[in-house]
Amino acid sequence: MADKQSGNGAAGTLSDAAENRIKEIVQRYPHSKSAIMPALYIAQEELGWINDEAVHWVADRLSLPLAHVIQVATFYTMYYKKPVGRYHIQVCRTLSCMICGAKDLTAHIKQRLKIDAHGITDDGMWSFEEVECLGSCGTAPMIEINDVFFENLTPETLDALMDRIEKEQPDLRYSTVRQELGAGLSGEPKSRVYVAPAES
Ligand code: FES
Repeated sequence: MADKQSGNGAAGTLSDAAENRIKEIVQRYPHSKSAIMPALYIAQEELGWINDEAVHWVADRLSLPLAHVIQVATFYTMYYKKPVGRYHIQVCRTLSCMICGAKDLTAHIKQRLKIDAHGITDDGMWSFEEVECLGSCGTAPMIEINDVFFENLTPETLDALMDRIEKEQPDLRYSTVRQELGAGLSGEPKSRVYVAPAES
């Protein structure tokens, strides 16, 4: 298989599990284009981000024009258009989060990781970006790391959370192929978002 990170434009082949899963998903819909979002997730899960190979794979498996796949992939922030770290932080910067301190979270991430948005730390562990509302405004400010929400944060609780992630290296990804969320942080229900305790 071609270098997964280079995006050489070939449709390529993903794992047998991914190929089987996409066939299964396509069968559920009268039109294959309805499967575009789970197909993009599968490609991202296998390739790490939506590169040329991912776009060609989805277009090929769903018999869709490349432009249609690109339109969907570039519209949604959950599809990574650039390589990301093992833990990719999305900081919500929309109104509720902004009022409640999103800027402080972003400033803390930049200062701790010494990278700008869309950069990756030298050890490949972290990357971050700012995104629009993630739908959890009631517990602002919040971030998403890979596929898990962390809410009600302050720079201090975020710092402690990042320490914990560096130590535990938890699986915070949802697998579309296996249809399950990773094990998550120890002692936290993996299917629930993590809400930092209020500071006294
Ligand atoms: S404004 Fe941040 S989750 Fe909605």
